[in-house]
Amino acid sequence: MEWLSDPNADPVVNVDKLTYAGNLRSLAPLQDDPRHRFVRADIADGQAMAELLARHRPRAVVHFAAESHVDRSIDGPAAFVQTNIVGTFALLEAVRAYWSALEGEARQAFRFLHVSTDEVYGTLGPQDPKFSETTPYAPNSPYAASKAASDHLVRAWHHTYGLPTVTTNCSNNYGPCQFPEKLIPLMILRALAGEPLPVYGDGLNVRDWLFVHDHCAAVREVLARGRIGETYNVGGCNEMRNIDVVHAICDLLDELRPRAQGSYREQIRFVTDRPGHDRRYAIDAGKMAGELGWQPAETFATGLRKTVRWYLDNAEWVREVTSGEYRNWVSRHYAS
Ligand SMILES: NC(=O)c1ccc[n+]([C@@H]2O[C@H](COP(=O)([O-])OP(=O)(O)OC[C@H]3O[C@@H](n4cnc5c(N)ncnc54)[C@H](O)[C@@H]3O)[C@@H](O)[C@H]2O)c1
Repeated sequence: MEWLSDPNADPVVNVDKLTYAGNLRSLAPLQDDPRHRFVRADIADGQAMAELLARHRPRAVVHFAAESHVDRSIDGPAAFVQTNIVGTFALLEAVRAYWSALEGEARQAFRFLHVSTDEVYGTLGPQDPKFSETTPYAPNSPYAASKAASDHLVRAWHHTYGLPTVTTNCSNNYGPCQFPEKLIPLMILRALAGEPLPVYGDGLNVRDWLFVHDHCAAVREVLARGRIGETYNVGGCNEMRNIDVVHAICDLLDELRPRAQGSYREQIRFVTDRPGHDRRYAIDAGKMAGELGWQPAETFATGLRKTVRWYLDNAEWVREVTSGEYRNWVSRHYAS
């Protein structure tokens, strides 16, 4: 949607498997835009990827598809290995075959942009310098390990085969349309439902929060002007402790949708910590700023206000992704 808000933008073929985390309703604003085409497919299906590349002949592939939730990776790591590693491998191979057959300007201009995470770098102490592009990889969760593996595959496909890749490693995203298993939408929706707000451990784990539109802008910059074979760290310059994030959400809801009595903060409950929970992530986005002139436009306060407003204004979207009805619809819709 961000991409197509530019009237001069190239068309997009949007490929997604529609796992539990995918939601076609998020694409509703694009349904009348002839520049957008949705295709349901699995990146691990190399033949399907090859056919799509042959049919649509893209000038770039931007690889967002992933299993992305750390808690789910602890409960069931197999899906993470399958999509993030095997899927990335299958996609790289299909893209390599397509790119190898391109000629002239089309071959020069082609890019494969791989979207990854800051979690590949492991965890920081309170005084450690922020993650830079040269920080050694030290992934701690099955999710982070699977993303690290995919980053290594992308790196190798560039160094060995010359595939023109660029990789972004970004911090925690938040904003509209985020599936409500991630911290911020989870807290907003549980608060509104009158449910306990579960905060892991002592609540002092630190994340660097990046508003999703700032992330999209960074991806566009790297795609347009990033140097081939390079990686770019993308952060929001918003280091926040989890408990402070939850307090900020409660305070906004107290203002925008007050409870009959008392504050949403009363719903906060500390729960047993996630196994291997990384203590702190922080991104040094100096390379993005220095080379590409990118900086986040939102502070955490402005981005969070927009996010809370969006969830308050989009109850129907929330109802669909959380009810199971949406998933049943997808099965029926794609039965043939
Ligand atoms: N959300 C964050 O805070 C964050 C932070 C850093 C990096 N990232 C990265 O950004 C990307 C997007 O993250 P997200 O939060 O939107 O994830 P998400 O889990 O909300 O959505 C992932 C999407 O990928 C699709 N998908 C999953 N497996 C697929 C497959 N095999 N084939 C095709 N499509 C498949 C899902 O249907 C879904 O639409 C991921 O690569 C993730 O690692 C996310």
